Amino acid sequence: MPMKGIILAGGSGSRLYPTTQVTSKQLLPVFDKPLIYYPLSVLMLARIRDILIISTPEDLHRFRDLLGSGSRWGLSFSYAQQSEPEGVAHAFVIGRDFVGGDSVGLVLGDNIFYGHGLQAILQEAGPRRGATIFGYYVKDPRAYGVADVDAEGNVLRIEEKPAAPTSNYAVTGLYFYDNEVLDIAAGLRKSGRGEYEITDVNREYLRRGQLHMRILGRGFAWLDAGTHEALLQAGNFIRTIEERVGLKIACPEEIAFRNGWIDASDLERLAAPLVQGGYGEYLHSILREA
Ligand code: TTP
Repeated sequence: MPMKGIILAGGSGSRLYPTTQVTSKQLLPVFDKPLIYYPLSVLMLARIRDILIISTPEDLHRFRDLLGSGSRWGLSFSYAQQSEPEGVAHAFVIGRDFVGGDSVGLVLGDNIFYGHGLQAILQEAGPRRGATIFGYYVKDPRAYGVADVDAEGNVLRIEEKPAAPTSNYAVTGLYFYDNEVLDIAAGLRKSGRGEYEITDVNREYLRRGQLHMRILGRGFAWLDAGTHEALLQAGNFIRTIEERVGLKIACPEEIAFRNGWIDASDLERLAAPLVQGGYGEYLHSILREA
């Protein structure tokens, strides 16, 4: 079953003001690359190549300037506006024509995932019936969707931003759905806070007995970059791992090359304008190793 991808990269970014008064949160650097590269890489690791980028009317052209058609990375990017941040589930209203008759993976533009075995987990969660979401144990889950799961990982209950959470499992910003999601999202009503809630989509799949949750264990890092502290922490985390290991996290050129979507001469061409800051040198090192 073919699978489409959506990156939701709009929002107001108000917790990062004044910085995000003139640019998108998802374009800010997390150490050595723009934030959006991280969720984009997650979709690429899931082997999704046809990707819709949704952002605000003010910022959308900046994403287009940065990412282009996607063809240099063996991808195809489409772009769509979200004029107001009307909620995560709104992505499936905006993206309805784009998704067509396929299943779809949605990732929030400010979410970073890192850990051993991620690629296999993503490919397994890919096209299947129903919905697959990812749970992550956090100290304080009150800012997130929170899921109760049994010992087998079956979701028993899911709530949006509960004041008194009944579990520590936050629902991360990565979701895989079958094509039913289009009709489910189209039928939603806005919540009390004025948003089309992704938790309501997940609740509908739960009601149908089709909500699967994979727990990303403590060997994984799940970060979002929504506050000044979180953005700096994410940058420091990426820098620490990259410098220690000598490999980049979320380098789209590398993933495209390793996935066989571009060849050595493509990679060489991509590296040339990027050598000054070391990013291009890294791409050269991948070529030498190959
Ligand atoms: P949030 O962090 O909830 O919102 P925000 O980015 O507007 O930031 P703030 O709370 O500081 O004002 O959004 C999470 C991610 O989802 C982020 O990448 C933006 C994206 N998003 C949209 O693109 N459209 C939306 O309608 C919503 C709710 C979020």
